[in-house]
Amino acid sequence: MFVSDNIDVNAKGNLTIGGIDCTELAEKYGTPLYVMDEDLLRKNCRRYKSALDNFCGGNGLVLYASKSFCCKAMCKIAAEEGFGLDVVSEGELFTALSANFPAERIVFHGNNKKYSELVFAVNSNIGAVVVDNLSELETLNGIAEAAGKNVGIMLRIKPGVDAHTHDFIMTGQIDSKFGFALETGEAFEAIKAALSCKHLTLKSLHCHIGSQIFEVDPYEYASAIMLGLMKKVKDELGTEIPGLNLGGGFGIKYTQNNTPVDYEKHIECVANAVKNECAKLGLNVPKLYFEPGRSISGPAGITLYTVGAVKEIPSIRTYVSIDGGMTDNPRYALYGAQYEISAVKNAASPRSKTVTVAGKCCESGDLIGKDMQLQEVKPGDLVAVFATGAYNYSMSSNYNRIPRPPVVMVSGGSSRVVVKGETLEDVIRNDLD
Ligand code: LLP
Repeated sequence: MFVSDNIDVNAKGNLTIGGIDCTELAEKYGTPLYVMDEDLLRKNCRRYKSALDNFCGGNGLVLYASKSFCCKAMCKIAAEEGFGLDVVSEGELFTALSANFPAERIVFHGNNKKYSELVFAVNSNIGAVVVDNLSELETLNGIAEAAGKNVGIMLRIKPGVDAHTHDFIMTGQIDSKFGFALETGEAFEAIKAALSCKHLTLKSLHCHIGSQIFEVDPYEYASAIMLGLMKKVKDELGTEIPGLNLGGGFGIKYTQNNTPVDYEKHIECVANAVKNECAKLGLNVPKLYFEPGRSISGPAGITLYTVGAVKEIPSIRTYVSIDGGMTDNPRYALYGAQYEISAVKNAASPRSKTVTVAGKCCESGDLIGKDMQLQEVKPGDLVAVFATGAYNYSMSSNYNRIPRPPVVMVSGGSSRVVVKGETLEDVIRNDLD
């Protein structure tokens, strides 16, 4: 009935997440409210981990892309589930280390890391820095030398694969701010340069071909391209690079129109493609890394809102305004993202009204979605937007000085706050007269 499997309707007709009545959550914690289902988060982690264990013979690591949903509780879950972590700023790294995430399982991404971030990463003994450009390579080598350390690196390569996704989140093609281009020979030169850095060890190549992808072929294709490069490196430079990181990007179900691939199947196909290609090229099978974010955190989350004004503009549209908006979920405003919504009470009744769900910001583009199907609602009713666990809380803002909502985690029938909601005092905390 709903896009997310962990959502149900109880005997009272109320929506539940992880078995807990959403009206109770709203009453206890207020709205807007981010709710994350810990049991589903862990289940999603285990699906990836067991697939990688099964199909890569233990020679693989799943790195949770923390940008999709990052807080100490989430880092703790990823650590407990045996994951590695992809961080992309000192803030994400600091969060992970504060949660005692094992540093050696952290990789640090970014196309423009600050010097202080690289020093922080080296001093924290993280597993690898994903080097994006030559000046970073040189800088990092210097930092490692000064620290008397050898630092693991991956090199971010643009394999030139078009994964047919939204332009804004397509990062594998040559016109991208991320990484070294393969076609131009830049990637090969970068590998040569990396291998000559005395204080760095090249652990893996890396590519990330986009996000919210439903096909397996682009990954197989990208892996073949990357292995071709690794073969050239072996033949011409005499070095076998021991790892291949294929990034994240596995799509999730936001609406009934989305049919995500089965992640286990996905990993199996890609792992087999890698094995076959290695056999063909005479390469050892590299350690495989994947970096899923959205597909772990996305389906586990919902956002609860209270309906305010309902404005019917005859023969044009009906606006249902809620007490949050682009400050807690900017994805419609940014990408025209589609979501499913339902009333929390009488949740099983047909969603027969077509409405536009608007936020409370002073901006016409502040919508959760246009022409969404919803039950008839009135001011004071609760609604839930599904599959908001990824890139909602992590992309939230204080626009219009709206405090961020709390994040509540539900597990085994109980709930707890894992990120406190901001207060008005928090909003002015850093203001000076
Ligand atoms: N690895 C790298 C290097 C990435 O850049 C990303 C996402 C991931 C892994 C995780 O991708 P995922 O499995 O979550 O698709 N804010 C956008 C998504 C941006 C994705 C950026 N990179 C959105 O809300 O759709």
